[in-house]
Amino acid sequence: MATSLNPYVLSAPNSKIRTVFNKVDGKEGLVKFVLGEPNFDTAPNIIAAAEKALEAGHTHYVANAGIFELRKAISDKMQRDNHIYYDPQTEIMVANGGTEAIWLSMQAIIEPGDEVLVPGPYWSPYPSLVKLLHAVPVVVPMLEEDGFMYNIENLRKAVTPRTKLLILNTPCNPTGGMADLQLLKEIAALAKERDFYVMSDEVYEKLVYDGNEHVSLASLPGMKERTITVNSFSKSYAMTGWRVGYVMSDAKIIKYCNKLHELEASCTNVPAQWGAVEALTGDQAVVDFMLGEYTRRRRMIVDGLNAIKGISCVAPKGTFYAFANMKGANMCSDEFCNRLIDEAGLVVIPGDAFGEYGEGYVRMSFAVSDETIIEGLNRLDMFMSKLSI
Ligand SMILES: Cc1ncc(COP(=O)(O)O)c(C=O)c1O
Repeated sequence: MATSLNPYVLSAPNSKIRTVFNKVDGKEGLVKFVLGEPNFDTAPNIIAAAEKALEAGHTHYVANAGIFELRKAISDKMQRDNHIYYDPQTEIMVANGGTEAIWLSMQAIIEPGDEVLVPGPYWSPYPSLVKLLHAVPVVVPMLEEDGFMYNIENLRKAVTPRTKLLILNTPCNPTGGMADLQLLKEIAALAKERDFYVMSDEVYEKLVYDGNEHVSLASLPGMKERTITVNSFSKSYAMTGWRVGYVMSDAKIIKYCNKLHELEASCTNVPAQWGAVEALTGDQAVVDFMLGEYTRRRRMIVDGLNAIKGISCVAPKGTFYAFANMKGANMCSDEFCNRLIDEAGLVVIPGDAFGEYGEGYVRMSFAVSDETIIEGLNRLDMFMSKLSI
């Protein structure tokens, strides 16, 4: 039919986070742990750099891959912090946030019918994007008993001759799990043995606690050419609304990403790119400050959750999310969250928003004020104490 629309578009389930959002929109007196974004404003030096760029006339199209100054700053950062050299001319592309970087790199790699290994629980766009490409998401569990990270045996079992890509998200949204060096080595060996690519989503790399170390998979021998590393300014620099992210891999893959970027967006907002240059090359004290705040709030929320009857929470190794086990409430996470809103005025995200392996949990962002954490824990405690458990 000439008037039919692409059925794949609406086959992607609606974001449960958005459903919760809509349910509470306009309601007064709620305590919310919803958004996955820093509650800090972008640092003044970054804002000033973007303003200066506008005044200097940086208001035109630039290269699809992004301004060279930003690609060079990213290359330097990757050498310094992640111990990988990416050539700023050919191996780095600036995108409209990590979201576009992920979408373009998937388009560059995935063919119809391919299988893509997706972490479960997952950041909800992953399986939807895979389906849009007429490929098959294969969700691999990352259970609490495995530290909310892949277990190599589960991965090994999930690989088939059609596996084209594995998505690794470390530190992980929504659980805060992280891949350690041993697991990364095992993933690298499996990827080489079974010949698939890995997309390493590292947008939370700066938010790690308790001496955990973030290691980039691409820094392991022989992995740069089969890893697509995605990063972003959103979480580390409190720049969610600026929409600047980046993708790095070998020149062959980045050439494909650039081609797609040319077709989809031409380039990323140019003053925002100049702000991002300042983020990477300017004073990093703001990153340390925010990490210090999250470290303190993480302790508050995790200790508070573990003190509530029927709730437990493994301390997240990274990110700003607490993924609390609410199986003691004897109801599904969806009912639990709806009742929390209606009976306690408390808004958290049901674990099934992140797929079937999120069931039995709720996600609470601790990128919120101390007052919100204290009040939220009080409300949860009161709610739980009224349940007959
Ligand atoms: C795991 C993960 N990857 C990527 C992104 C994309 O972030 P952005 O597009 O703001 O860079 C997010 C945002 O919440 C995320 O949680």
